Amino acid sequence: MNKVASSNPPKHKPAAKGHRASGARPFVFLNVAIGADGKIATANRVVSSFGSARDKKHLLELRARADAVMAGANTVNSGRITLGPGPRRYRRLRVRLGLAEYNLRIVVSRSGTVDPEAEVFRHRFSPVVVLTTRSANTERLEQLRRAGAIVRICGLRTINFREALCWLRKEWRVRRLLCEGGGELNDALFRAGLVDEVHLTVCPKIIGGRRAPTLADGTGVAHLTASTRLRLSSARPNKEEMFLLYRVVAPKR
Ligand SMILES: NC(=O)c1ccc[n+]([C@@H]2O[C@H](COP(=O)([O-])OP(=O)(O)OC[C@H]3O[C@@H](n4cnc5c(N)ncnc54)[C@H](OP(=O)(O)O)[C@@H]3O)[C@@H](O)[C@H]2O)c1
Repeated sequence: MNKVASSNPPKHKPAAKGHRASGARPFVFLNVAIGADGKIATANRVVSSFGSARDKKHLLELRARADAVMAGANTVNSGRITLGPGPRRYRRLRVRLGLAEYNLRIVVSRSGTVDPEAEVFRHRFSPVVVLTTRSANTERLEQLRRAGAIVRICGLRTINFREALCWLRKEWRVRRLLCEGGGELNDALFRAGLVDEVHLTVCPKIIGGRRAPTLADGTGVAHLTASTRLRLSSARPNKEEMFLLYRVVAPKR
């Protein structure tokens, strides 16, 4: 049976001063829909949503179990993405599970290219945190602040994701973080050893294209020994799609 609904769901606010640093990071789970060839969008980036209605429901069910939902700048710039919890029944589910009605939203943008006019900033239901670096354009960061974002510098030229995640845990009490791509962000998290679980929907499409993004792009690893090893936890076919859940073998805590 589900947990009893709380009449006072928690709200997002930074932890009070004096809140103890735990040094722990949130549990990180990734969700991605791929074509049968591993692509996550077309090469021209026009199409990136090709899952069934069941897959969209799956995404909202996963968001309903996350304190925060995170995406890279290109993903946020590429469409009408709010990173929010969606319809009321998912918000109710969140409250029943003891989470805030609306999840915290996180955008990763090394140089600040994320568009302040992007859909994610047009909806004020929960804070949007932009994780960035000192090398980002300061005027762009100011525009993002004016758009309502909370800007957090997490490194000089590259984002120190471990530090960023520990900060999210400590300052925003993020225990479960859902990452929704794209490929460059996913790759950085895999290389840092910070992913615990991968939810993969394999869709019955071949998208192709050398320049089409895949589940993990970025720089990748040079040797197989450095690759992220996965263990299959479940495989559920649904019509033509396959819903896979992999657990990462020995993620870094
Ligand atoms: N099928 C699916 O499930 C799915 C899911 C998500 C996305 N997509 C699609 O995938 C495409 C986007 O993927 P993508 O790989 O091009 O982009 P992405 O990972 O969404 O965003 C890349 C941008 O995010 C920032 N970023 C990523 N990794 C970073 C790091 N380690 N440190 C600092 N900043 C970092 C940088 O922003 P700055 O340029 O500002 O420095 C970088 O240019 C879109 O077409 C999207 O629609 C599909």
